[in-house]
Amino acid sequence: MTKPTTITIDGTAASGKSTVAALLSKKLGYLYLDTGVMYRAVTWAVLHEGVAVDNEESVSALAERLTINVTTDGPADGRPYTVLANGQDVTWAIRAKEVEAHVSRVSSYRRVRVALTTQQRHIAAAGSIIMVGRDIGTVVLPQADLKIFMRASAEERARRRYKELLGQGKPANYEEILTAIQQRDKLDEANPVSPFIPATDAIMVDTDNLTIEEVVAKLSKLCEIDHSKI
Ligand code: DC
Repeated sequence: MTKPTTITIDGTAASGKSTVAALLSKKLGYLYLDTGVMYRAVTWAVLHEGVAVDNEESVSALAERLTINVTTDGPADGRPYTVLANGQDVTWAIRAKEVEAHVSRVSSYRRVRVALTTQQRHIAAAGSIIMVGRDIGTVVLPQADLKIFMRASAEERARRRYKELLGQGKPANYEEILTAIQQRDKLDEANPVSPFIPATDAIMVDTDNLTIEEVVAKLSKLCEIDHSKI
């Protein structure tokens, strides 16, 4: 039996796909790339360099010259990986509210997507990988061996985020979180270049009533099906 070499996990914002993919990749010994961090790194650089987010030409040019590296090196401060933008550690900075507010716009630009898609395909060519995002199964790696699309209701995702923030001792407002998630869903769905729909051959996984561990177990099982015969 052959295990799938290339696994794509797409899904909505805060669906838990990154956490699940990180655990699954450890279990399988696969490389793991969360492509959301690349769109976030470009957005961070746009804001950092004072480029106007609405200026598609300048934003695209910046994305084309920005070097993004995702590595497992870095300080043990709770980070799952380190993200470098032109050598600068932006692992935590890309999670800022300001970046969140502009990342959908930046990722709607065609040249930005082309630049990042090219890099993502290059990374996937290195070997066994789990790649996470919105358009991985449809656009980036349409020949992937196993495609997953993770879904959870906006309310459930807001509840998870709310609990996570409280757990970190940070202030949290459920209604605000829910509104932000719904707004991001709308923007992501309306992306003119890669509308974020599941691939026709993706396996849909609804996670509303499942724990992270249960989702990982479910995906592990899917990896044991002989994909060479499908
Ligand atoms: O998964 P995330 O929240 O870190 O993603 C951040 C943003 O990047 C989100 O607004 C959608 C965008 N994104 C994208 O356009 N294509 C991808 N493959 C991954 C993320």
